[in-house]
This record gives sequence, C-alpha cells and structure tokens, in this order.
Amino acid sequence: MSERKVILAVQNITKSFGGRKVLDGISVEIYQGEIFVIMGGSGCGKSTLLRHMIGSIKPDSGRVLFDGKDLSKLSEAEEEKMKRRFGMSFQSSALLDYMNVEENVSLPLSEHTSLDPKVISIIVKMKLGLVGLQGFDHLMPSMLSGGMRKRVGLARAIAMDPEVVFYDEPTAGLDPVVCAVVDKLIVDLSKKLLLTSVVVTHNMESVFRIADRVAMLHKGKVLEIGTPEQIKNSKNPIVQQFIKGEIEGPINVIEE
Ligand SMILES: Nc1ncnc2c1ncn2[C@@H]1O[C@H](COP(=O)(O)OP(=O)(O)OP(=O)(O)O)[C@@H](O)[C@H]1O
Ligand SMILES: [Mg+2]
Repeated sequence: MSERKVILAVQNITKSFGGRKVLDGISVEIYQGEIFVIMGGSGCGKSTLLRHMIGSIKPDSGRVLFDGKDLSKLSEAEEEKMKRRFGMSFQSSALLDYMNVEENVSLPLSEHTSLDPKVISIIVKMKLGLVGLQGFDHLMPSMLSGGMRKRVGLARAIAMDPEVVFYDEPTAGLDPVVCAVVDKLIVDLSKKLLLTSVVVTHNMESVFRIADRVAMLHKGKVLEIGTPEQIKNSKNPIVQQFIKGEIEGPINVIEE
C-alpha cells in the first residue's frame, strides 16, 4: 500500500469550539481507491474531522491537502471545481422532504451543472439503479424506510461522479440486515466506480466488513490506525474496550 497515491492528507489539524479542543493534532493520509473508516465514541469529533476533510470548516491550525492542494487556500473557482470531486452522504440523510426521490438526487446536478434536464433525468435513473432504487423516483422521502432514505442519500452523493465519497454514519438507526445491505453497497460502489471512500461509523460490524484501513479517534487524537486486523489485535486497552463494547475499561463515559 505504501506506493499508493495519497489523495487526501490531513496534517496536524486542531479545532476548538468555545474554548474546548475537539481536534487536537490529527494527521491521517488517505490513499486513492481505499475504504478508510474513522471510528470513535460519540462526540469525539468524527463528524468534525469529516467536515474539515471536505473543506466546509477550516482548522485553527494545520491543513488539509486534497490532491496536494490546501483546501483552505483555494480560490472560489478552484473550490467549486474541488467540490465536484467530492460526494457527501450526511449523518441524517439530509433529504429535502418537499422534493421527491428524483428531485433530491438531481439536486447537485441541477445546482452545479448546466446539463439538460433530460440528461439529468437519465443520470439520476442510473444512480438510483446503482443503489437498487430503480422505479422509486416519484416517492416522497416521508414514504421511504430509513434504509431507503440512506440509499437515496448515497445516490445523491454519487450523482456528480465524485472521486471521493464521504459517508457520515451511513448505517445509523438501521436494522442489522439493512445495515449489511448498505455496507455491501458502499463496498460495491467503491469497487465499481473506483472511488475513494471515507466512512465515519461506530458500528463495529461495519468497520470490519468494509474497511481497508481504520483510524480510531479518542479525545481529539488518532489513537490507533491500521488494517482491521491490526486494530483487532491492538494492545491498546482503549481500542479493545471500544471494539468489544465493554463497560469496564479505561473509557470513562461519565467523565467524557
Ligand atoms: N459548530 C459547532 N459548534 C460548537 N460545538 C461543536 C460544533 N460542531 C461540533 N461541536 C462539538 O464538538 C464535539 C464533537 O462533535 P462531532 O459532531 O464531531 O462528534 P462525533 O464524533 O461526530 O459524534 P457522534 O458520534 O455523536 O456523531 C461535540 O462536543 C460537539 O458538541
Ligand atoms: Mg457525528
């Protein structure tokens, strides 16, 4: 893996909110084509790290390089171009309730391209096919199950043919079978579309099902990083407590 291209480099970033340091010197490198998972306890800064990776918030110090370019030093035109190379699937699915499935998925295309609506409609049908939702175009989000909403979110994330897709808790709130379906979809999309995927999750089954590499965050730092096998065999008691979901151990939930 060492000769693979680093597509995204997070270099020693820190971020505080209201005087509380949420990210405390985080560095990670993400290789082109891999599925990179970020795990860690609730509130440890996973979504915040993801938001830095897509450039929607700027670090207090340190930098994020995408394809060698500092995300916080882009001109408006460069930023617009860069954003097209990213797809984002949000923690809450973030579908617009007053738009049907087709309109939700077509949103990035109608916002960021001048493609003919007929072409957009064909692209949307293709993307819905990729997530197994062909024929559901005209349903409203309120008519969908949680798993279907997540899949619409995935279709929207890949609408613009991004190079890197970021998923924030793609399986939160789903039953174990639907969770496995969404995990498989993430792996399939990644392979079929040659994507780089960055997935935030605290679902341990998902971690070991999909990850090429995993980083565990704890108290604003990267506690451990490696292949799923290396994480499983980690000697760090915090990592072990987390992956086994044990009550007793060094992680003090009350204190945090
Ligand atoms: N814009 C903000 N303003 C103030 N505090 C924030 C902001 N964004 C995040 N935080 C705080 O930073 C901490 C980390 O939040 P974050 O959402 O990154 O955690 P997380 O690891 O994604 O948690 P979860 O697993 O619950 O989704 C939390 O304490 C949160 O309250
Ligand atoms: Mg989060």
